[in-house]
Amino acid sequence: MKFDVVVIGAGAAGLFCAIQASKRGRKVLVLDHAKKVGRKILMSGGGRCNFTNMYCSPENFISENAHFSKSALNKFTQWDFISLVEKHAIAYHEKTLGQLFCNDSAKDIVTMLLNECQENGVVIQTQATVTSVIQVNQGIDIDTEVTENSKMAYQLSFQKGATTPARNPNVQTDASIPSEKIQCQSLVIATGGLSMPKLGASPFGYQIAQQFGHSIIPTRAGLVPFTLHDQDKNLFSDISGVSVSADISNQRTSFNESMLFTHRGLSGPAVLQISSYWQPGEAININLNPATNITTYLQQEKQSGAKTLLSNALGQHLPKRVVQVLLTHQQIVNKPLNQYQGKQLSQILSQLEQWQIKPNGTEGYRTAEVTLGGVATSDVSSKTMESKLAKNLYFIGEVLDVTGWLGGYNFQWAWSSGWAAGQVC
Ligand code: FDA
Repeated sequence: MKFDVVVIGAGAAGLFCAIQASKRGRKVLVLDHAKKVGRKILMSGGGRCNFTNMYCSPENFISENAHFSKSALNKFTQWDFISLVEKHAIAYHEKTLGQLFCNDSAKDIVTMLLNECQENGVVIQTQATVTSVIQVNQGIDIDTEVTENSKMAYQLSFQKGATTPARNPNVQTDASIPSEKIQCQSLVIATGGLSMPKLGASPFGYQIAQQFGHSIIPTRAGLVPFTLHDQDKNLFSDISGVSVSADISNQRTSFNESMLFTHRGLSGPAVLQISSYWQPGEAININLNPATNITTYLQQEKQSGAKTLLSNALGQHLPKRVVQVLLTHQQIVNKPLNQYQGKQLSQILSQLEQWQIKPNGTEGYRTAEVTLGGVATSDVSSKTMESKLAKNLYFIGEVLDVTGWLGGYNFQWAWSSGWAAGQVC
């Protein structure tokens, strides 16, 4: 069996790349080892898929090379993806901070991608486990058009599981591929990162990259909740489920969003964001006084001689249970405001603004939304995503060492990098 392009991974990046390449008249096959395509899309954004961010820019990404994402993000922007969503009449809304979500369901995005695949003749084979990839001499083994640029082709062997019928009758997700050996001119690796193995994540992309001489930037879980040491965990278990607005920082960056106390530790948008910048053993700084004017309020109360208890005064601005835990954790004596002497109150306020917590670790890949690190960008073209070490081999999406913030940035990277490769592969 011969295809112009084989894409391994039917996630956001792989499907989008397949659409672009097939629009150029390329015969495209997408292989995935999972039963269903686009599983992370379906799970994303609480089932509504935060598919992009209106304010997406290269500053929202973490990579050893901060410039790598620029070209792809500039050529296929969030506005281009929004136009596509609108063309398919998918209703959407901005939730917060430029984050765009489907009004109805993340299924709308998967259906949109599959409809585009079908319109352009993309063949999708699920439950396909690729067992080997080798380079072959194109002139001998493959009869697709030979261009100056096409010096290499690839042969893939894979095993197929039982074919399951497509759930959506309008969308063909499985074509019957008779052969289990395939040759292609271009091979696109879109197998994502390691987060959420239950959704099909595997290290396959890194293994193929290494096979062709690429180095891997060490991977770790990103956008992931923190776990706490036992003492803190026991104390915070009382406020499990409580959410507060906070400015969370470390020496490198800060995020002002909400945070959530959980029965295992800390979560919520601000925590997930800082987790991508966190190193084991480091403390994080939580400012519970970022926007509210607790400082002015407490000082005015004190000056007016108020006998209000500190905890009650703080409770005007923060959930009361959080105040209790904070006072215990920071060993702050709770007494009427007028009994604090000299600078005592401003010291308490600075404790409120610099509440330091040392996480024990993170929940790891099991619950992480993304994987930091991945295929080093130094040997990949930022314009086409083609390997600089193996002609006609491409890496797109999360498998690369490009990780976005929380808020639709990771999908935008999947669309933009998939689009870039799809123009040339
Ligand atoms: P993705 O992981 O989507 O796809 C990889 C595909 O490759 C999978 O289908 C997998 O089965 C397949 N595969 C893996 N190994 C294989 C092998 N050996 N052989 C064959 N196939 C193989 N981002 C965002 O911007 N907004 C959001 O709302 C969310 N929400 C969210 C929720 C949850 C729960 C998670 C886990 C993640 C998010 N994300 C997100 C992140 C986002 O889902 C992620 O960055 C993109 O899906 C990455 O797209 P890729 O196509 O690169 O990989």
